[in-house]
Amino acid sequence: MHFKRTLDSFSLEGHVGLVTGGARGLGLVMAQSLVVSGADVAIVDLNKEEAQYSADQLYDSFKQENPGADKLPKVTAHYADVSDPDSVNNVISEVLTAHSKIDNLVTSAGFTENFDAVSYPYDRMKKLWGVNVDGTYLFAVGVAKHLMERKAHGSIVFIGSMSGAIVNVPQPQAPYNGAKAAVRHLASSLAVEWAHAGIRVNCISPGYMLTALTKKILDDNPELSKKWTSLIPQGKMGRPEDLMGAVTFLCSDASGYVTGADLRIDGGYTVT
Ligand SMILES: NC(=O)c1ccc[n+]([C@@H]2O[C@H](COP(=O)([O-])OP(=O)(O)OC[C@H]3O[C@@H](n4cnc5c(N)ncnc54)[C@H](O)[C@@H]3O)[C@@H](O)[C@H]2O)c1
Repeated sequence: MHFKRTLDSFSLEGHVGLVTGGARGLGLVMAQSLVVSGADVAIVDLNKEEAQYSADQLYDSFKQENPGADKLPKVTAHYADVSDPDSVNNVISEVLTAHSKIDNLVTSAGFTENFDAVSYPYDRMKKLWGVNVDGTYLFAVGVAKHLMERKAHGSIVFIGSMSGAIVNVPQPQAPYNGAKAAVRHLASSLAVEWAHAGIRVNCISPGYMLTALTKKILDDNPELSKKWTSLIPQGKMGRPEDLMGAVTFLCSDASGYVTGADLRIDGGYTVT
């Protein structure tokens, strides 16, 4: 519901968005921004129970905050392991059965962990790459195929990280940094490859944001907090809500001529 005047090209009314990793953290808040902006949303996550809880919460808070709304959003929850091609194909079919179409994809499923490169367990490295890179690629291809079959335009947003452009210090995380650089360049490459079909692909690269993912790192290493914020020109970590405008912009017609872009949302970290 729009209580203040704004460009109607920012509206996502009539859109269906699929958000991977949407059960919590950045994905959940971005799913919320799609719902508030008018879209129906499918939350896809490894944790189906949490995804269902979050989908119900999104629906309930929309209903509560918009008592006069003539249309309520459809918000569904689905299980997938984004690193498994069969699981990705199955969940895309399941979402299409529930929503009939997909217009926007936001790939937020991902994780990081800290090991020195020389002692990084190879299995874990493969898993990290599988979730962050394969998971992004598999969903993008699945949704692009659907859009092409429908002969419909669409917009895809990858969640990369500033770690794809800089090297975080002091914690060692070479595979994560490399994976996020791959995500950013996949966005540019697919943007060029699919431009003819009206499918836009962009990347959002957040800096340090306060979520369960960073909370665990900070709980294990409390001294990191000061070090991290000392390197951020705005002097503070970001809130998940700081991504709401960006994801809405990139999913909407307001960004119709934006494709292959990397939008850094990092309080200025990467410009210093
Ligand atoms: N938090 C930050 O500071 C930060 C900064 C830059 C980039 N990012 C990126 O943003 C994304 C979201 O991070 P977050 O902080 O919200 O993390 P989070 O851990 O809070 O949430 C990640 C979600 O992804 C899901 N997930 C993990 N592996 C999965 C799999 N194999 N299949 C399906 N779902 C899976 C988890 O269940 C969880 O719900 C990640 O890609 C992360 O790398 C985070």
